[in-house]
Amino acid sequence: MVNYTVTVATGDLAFATTLHNVYIKLVGTDGESTRTWYKPLKLSIIRGAVSSVTVSCPDSIGKLVLIEIDKQHHTLLFFENSWFPAKVEVRSPEGDTYNFPIYRWITDNEVHRFREGTALRIFEDDHHLGRYSREQELKQRGEDYCWDVYLEGIPHCMRSEGPRDLPEEVQFSFTKTKEFVLTAATGLAELKLKELSDSTDNWHDMDAIDRVFSCKRTDISEYVQEHWKEDAFFGYQFLNGINPMLIQRCSVLPNNFPVSDDMVSLGGPHSLADEMEKGNIFLCDYKRLDGLKTNIINGMKQYLMAPLVLLHKTPDDQLMPIAIQLKQTPADDNPIFFPTDSEYDWLTAKIFVRSADFNEHELNVHLLRTHLLAEVFAVSLLRNLPMVHPLYKLLVPHTRYTLQINNLARSFLISKTGVFTKFAASGGKGVKTLLKRSLSSVTYRSLCIPDDIADRGLEDVPKFYYRDDGLKLWDIIHRYVQGVLSFYYKNDTEVQKDPELQKWISDIFEHGFLSHAGTGIPESFTTVAELVKFVTMVIFTCSGQHSAVNTGQFDYAGWMPNNPLTLQRPPPTTKGTTSEATMLKTLPAINATVQIMSTVWLLSRQSTDSVPLGEYPEEHFSQTNPCDLIKNFQRALRELTEAINARNKSLDVPYTYLDPKVLENSVDI
Ligand code: FE2
Repeated sequence: MVNYTVTVATGDLAFATTLHNVYIKLVGTDGESTRTWYKPLKLSIIRGAVSSVTVSCPDSIGKLVLIEIDKQHHTLLFFENSWFPAKVEVRSPEGDTYNFPIYRWITDNEVHRFREGTALRIFEDDHHLGRYSREQELKQRGEDYCWDVYLEGIPHCMRSEGPRDLPEEVQFSFTKTKEFVLTAATGLAELKLKELSDSTDNWHDMDAIDRVFSCKRTDISEYVQEHWKEDAFFGYQFLNGINPMLIQRCSVLPNNFPVSDDMVSLGGPHSLADEMEKGNIFLCDYKRLDGLKTNIINGMKQYLMAPLVLLHKTPDDQLMPIAIQLKQTPADDNPIFFPTDSEYDWLTAKIFVRSADFNEHELNVHLLRTHLLAEVFAVSLLRNLPMVHPLYKLLVPHTRYTLQINNLARSFLISKTGVFTKFAASGGKGVKTLLKRSLSSVTYRSLCIPDDIADRGLEDVPKFYYRDDGLKLWDIIHRYVQGVLSFYYKNDTEVQKDPELQKWISDIFEHGFLSHAGTGIPESFTTVAELVKFVTMVIFTCSGQHSAVNTGQFDYAGWMPNNPLTLQRPPPTTKGTTSEATMLKTLPAINATVQIMSTVWLLSRQSTDSVPLGEYPEEHFSQTNPCDLIKNFQRALRELTEAINARNKSLDVPYTYLDPKVLENSVDI
């Protein structure tokens, strides 16, 4: 007889334990073991525990290919319970160690097969049982993860009746569910806003908004409250606020924005043309919002503009707004506002820009360009790549909780009764139009920060921390991805002959970008370099980009006048008609304000079981090379954190949203 030492680790998470009978069988190239019984209450099946058992065979069964695990109902127990095995390690009589990553809930009494941890593409998976289990796994996943169309013209999503209908392996943990539900349920109370949530009144003075806001603040939200009226801070937010994605260098004024030299003050003898030539003029154009059907809130029509904003980089490196036109078509009743206008004309124009920016941010920059695309990357991964595939191992940690958070967003934010539908200017029909318009403007280059910054002409804008940190982060992720994928794909031919990999990208092209070749999204991969770039974009989008547009939501929108999600009055059509009173009537009503405040509070909070970028508590890779590359990746991320911390010490407003310590591996909130 020969002995195999089988060590089972149960996951360290709530309810991971099972009290039922567990059986394990080893399958090797030369035979298989008998199905071996683990006694109920054996330590290895208690939460977080690790213990070993000996499996004896008459002879060696050769190189291990897979293990089979099943859990059977214990006759003395009257209840079902799931088990969450983390991994199994097998020590063979020859002295070899085999690792089997699992990290899955086992809820039924079926036999489940798990492959040894060495990553294998299909063309090198040469054992018939390995191939069979690969096919079976993908067949099952194809049934468990199906595409659905939530709305024509936007990326497809995961079909599901609700969060509890999702496969258990992609649901929130108990901890995450508990915290999320609690924060959602108590958000209004915690912010002491509950009694205000039904009030359809307008705000009568700024102090009343301040009293509400005082209940919950962050260092940055306090700064925002103090500085929101200042032009320099208005300009700063286009670079380092929660929407750094719209601003671009302006070398020619758009035809529909007739600003001339005599209108603007550039603080010296230089003309607008001179300053454009020098690269000192910037534009934010919200044309996507033009003609959008706006919401009705508290029985009142709401207003959302499609502004054009011109900004000037001053010699002391401030980005100052110099002209704002609130509607796309020039007209007498569509004045261009300037800093020299009356205080409230200029402030009102800026408030309309901030409101347009927040609607654009939430639907395009945040929801579509991070959440919905991350879901497409995840569903395609789960449908097309088996656990033993190297790309599955690389990307699955970056899909954690994404399917459920998006399911919740569809149910509670943009559904008929969702907070966004009820209280955003673009809520309702506007959401659909804006999401469709947004997808048609997404390009592959705009998802890759080095290309995006170059295309927007922003390479040398000073004090642009989103760019500085984002480019460094992109490089770190790129080095890691290149290391891992070039270890598995030695040449371009191996990329071309991997049908599972090709199906992953072709599904993304079809279901994420609706087969629009004009986006530049690849339909297939022909080179290792193309694959590395695309996978870098996927990890960057799910981690850094999502954090850059998500984490600061309460910081910047907690003080509502800085980021009103809707406005109740039309903008002034002539100058000299505004006052503090008209501004207060224009700002969102009390109920709209507090509902949005509590939502951004919820969406800015990390759960206690969040996983920072580069931490992989689930060990899908077992080979030395990728494990070493993960350590290098973690070291580089730590160095970036140190550099960001050192830089932030000298800033009035620290930019932390791309600090690897703050980033999560996946879109999960
Ligand atoms: Fe988010």
